[in-house]
Amino acid sequence: MCGIVGYVGDDDALPVILDGLKRLEYRGYDSAGVCLRTDPLTVHKKAGEVDELVEAAPESSEATCGVGHTRWSTHGEPTDENAHPHADEARRYAVVHNGIIDNHAELRDELEDRGHVFESDTDTEVVPHLLSEAEGELVERLGAVVERLEGSYALACVSADSDEVVVARQDSPLVVGHGDDANYVGSDVTAFVEHTRRVSYLHDGDIARVTADSIEVWNDGESVDRAVETVDWDVEAAEKGGYEHYMLKEIHEQPRALRKTVSERTDEVEGEALLDVSDEVLAEHDRVEFVACGTSYHAALYARRLFEEYADISATAEYASEYDGPHAPEETLVVAVTQSGETADTLSATRRAAREGATTVAVTNTVGSTAARETDETVYIRAGPEIGVAATKTFASQVVTLALVAVAAGRARDALPASEASSVLADLRDVPGAVQRVLDNEDRVAETAEEYGWDDAFFYVGRRLGYPVALEGALKLKEISYDHAEGFPAGELKHGPLALVTPDTPVLAVMTDGTRPRETLNNVKEVESRGAPVVAVTSSDADEGARLADTVFRVPSLGDMEPLLANVYLQMFAYHVARLKDRPIDKPRNLAKSVTVE
Ligand code: F6R
Repeated sequence: MCGIVGYVGDDDALPVILDGLKRLEYRGYDSAGVCLRTDPLTVHKKAGEVDELVEAAPESSEATCGVGHTRWSTHGEPTDENAHPHADEARRYAVVHNGIIDNHAELRDELEDRGHVFESDTDTEVVPHLLSEAEGELVERLGAVVERLEGSYALACVSADSDEVVVARQDSPLVVGHGDDANYVGSDVTAFVEHTRRVSYLHDGDIARVTADSIEVWNDGESVDRAVETVDWDVEAAEKGGYEHYMLKEIHEQPRALRKTVSERTDEVEGEALLDVSDEVLAEHDRVEFVACGTSYHAALYARRLFEEYADISATAEYASEYDGPHAPEETLVVAVTQSGETADTLSATRRAAREGATTVAVTNTVGSTAARETDETVYIRAGPEIGVAATKTFASQVVTLALVAVAAGRARDALPASEASSVLADLRDVPGAVQRVLDNEDRVAETAEEYGWDDAFFYVGRRLGYPVALEGALKLKEISYDHAEGFPAGELKHGPLALVTPDTPVLAVMTDGTRPRETLNNVKEVESRGAPVVAVTSSDADEGARLADTVFRVPSLGDMEPLLANVYLQMFAYHVARLKDRPIDKPRNLAKSVTVE
């Protein structure tokens, strides 16, 4: 959560920073601000979206160095005062911050006792005041200040004295960009990818000084080199490309993203999944524990079944925030599923597992992320950048990547014959085309959204692989339409939730192959007899479910991947209901794309 951008170069810093903030807005949009390096420093900040800041700020400036921030509130209401950057009283030091400073109250008391006057309720504001008391150049001051901080931070600081941005990282991502005659700072590459694709990811404990012609990094007082990497996507990939919303663009991007996910990873002749993860890691563990949050947790629930089926291995999926550590660390492979690779709950579950001796694997979209760096092995889902706060294409790429890993585990453990592996791999290779065939039905989904979308409560049901999809369908709808939506195992309806079912509560049932559709049919009959409209997603050849439901969507025949195809209908349904209600689809209230606090 929260986005940071910094610039030092020859050009006017203000437009560069404001553009970066617009791109970072998916990380938080409660308030935004910019600090320009003038003497004293100039700060513009505003509650609300970046557009409000753009209106309030001048069109240009004389400054060639500065930092900006877009905020998802943790400490303090989303007001002008609490917006970052925060500065000391004399406007000599200013700071933008992602993360939480746990000991801020104690530091604030101490500073107030020494006469400092605070303007905000944030944890961050202690930092510029501490900088003003420290000694030496900005980099030395920040080095001394971080010694006093407990908690997590990505900090970017400027001083009135020199054209440089000094940054520090602990448990919150930070990346520096190497430009021509300019250098950049970002909480992620999106902040500056239109200017440079050459980046270095900072590590925990790093402090860096960024000037127009140099980037120097230290860790624990020692100068260190951080590799320069080239990101393989450009600004086009992060723009809307003619769609009304990023979410819709990303829903439609799924075939392309999935092609990248499977590309060169299937050998159907030999029945092998070709991944970077070592066979020993997959063969030597008797248990897999997935840890994840939100949508990634639903992908993990899906994967858990595939691992049991293909690899004959006991597998569980837990919310990362509820995870107590591996049951038998030596025998357990702990798999962190995380699009961003920065979710605090998932990182802390993975760290706990590693401390207790388990082998850890990250399944992530983000190269250079903390999860990728801290785990023993990493498998990338290769979905490309996802800007919409509601995850769509990354869910599909997670499920397909995890299916590949499950096949690899099955082969490494001699649990999956080559012929069966070949047929699963053939299905996985066909997922992109099948998703496209589902997407081609968008008009019908939009009509269904118009028919049922005005109700206020929605239930989603499914069994087996249909259950995580029911949960995901409900999560998507509640996130972006603000309607009440719940997902249940279809068989559980009659054990309580059925009391909520009325003619005004549409029920969306996942009834494809891989979800025990015959059993779910009984549950559909139960809700129909209470008058609820039923929207069913079935396999192409299913008759019975189709006869009973009010609306039927069909998916192409694709074995265990059929529920994933059903999910694409549910994504489009959520999108069109939210659009009908004129919701801010890419920026749902109270949410942020990457949640870096526990
Ligand atoms: C929902 C959504 C969130 C994330 C969750 C985990 O649309 O995007 O539920 O799935 O915050 O994020 P990652 O996958 O980055 O760990």
